[in-house]
Amino acid sequence: MDALNELAEAYSLQVIEDATESLGSLYRGRHTGGLGHIGCFSFNGNKIITSGGGGMVVTDNEETARRIRHLSTQAKSDPLEYDHDEIGYNYRLTNIQAALGLAQMERLEDYVAIKRKNAQQYRHALQDISRVRMLDESADVKSNFWFYTIKTERRDKQPLLQWLIRHGIQARSLWKPIHNLKMYSHNENFKIEQADEAYACCLNIPCSVNLSDEDIRYVAGIINRFFERPA
Ligand SMILES: Cc1ncc(COP(=O)(O)O)c(C=O)c1O
Repeated sequence: MDALNELAEAYSLQVIEDATESLGSLYRGRHTGGLGHIGCFSFNGNKIITSGGGGMVVTDNEETARRIRHLSTQAKSDPLEYDHDEIGYNYRLTNIQAALGLAQMERLEDYVAIKRKNAQQYRHALQDISRVRMLDESADVKSNFWFYTIKTERRDKQPLLQWLIRHGIQARSLWKPIHNLKMYSHNENFKIEQADEAYACCLNIPCSVNLSDEDIRYVAGIINRFFERPA
């Protein structure tokens, strides 16, 4: 983020930080979402906290906040008349979603602590499997470990994914890189390599805050058995 902010400063750009996946994480001691000019979060059902759907935008700039509020509440310019001074959107959270989200926010720190503890347990349980690596945490980052992503070799990814599903374990591929989706396939303006490599080698293993120590041992055991089975 420091490098991006420097670039933005040099070229008078605004940094919009999508901190959805990292809510509760710290970068150099500061919360993600507050590192650029504008931060945004999704509170979709699969996130570390949820309001059932919808999201939030944060900024410390009064004028930007006013503009976002205006656009997300139908751009009404008069409190009584239905007078819209530009094309607006009905993008606000409902009161009920916001109440749910606030209650969930109170649990965020606990969830992050559980996610971090479980990450350590997975790391410990998988450490002897040479063809599996858990993603590391950089020195200046405190991750929320929303997902547990493991990296395998290309040849292992699909068979391991199928193996886990066959053993009743909810594993998933990474999101397909957007430039590989049919409708955006003509939008690749430079050679994208890292995302393709991550997609080819990585998968996500169970990450619920409700996982027990035994669940984690079970998942790690099944992964272990995959690599020990006769070729
Ligand atoms: C980085 C990021 N941004 C946004 C979203 C989704 O946002 P929305 O609430 O629009 O589905 C996701 C995942 O669902 C995400 O991972």
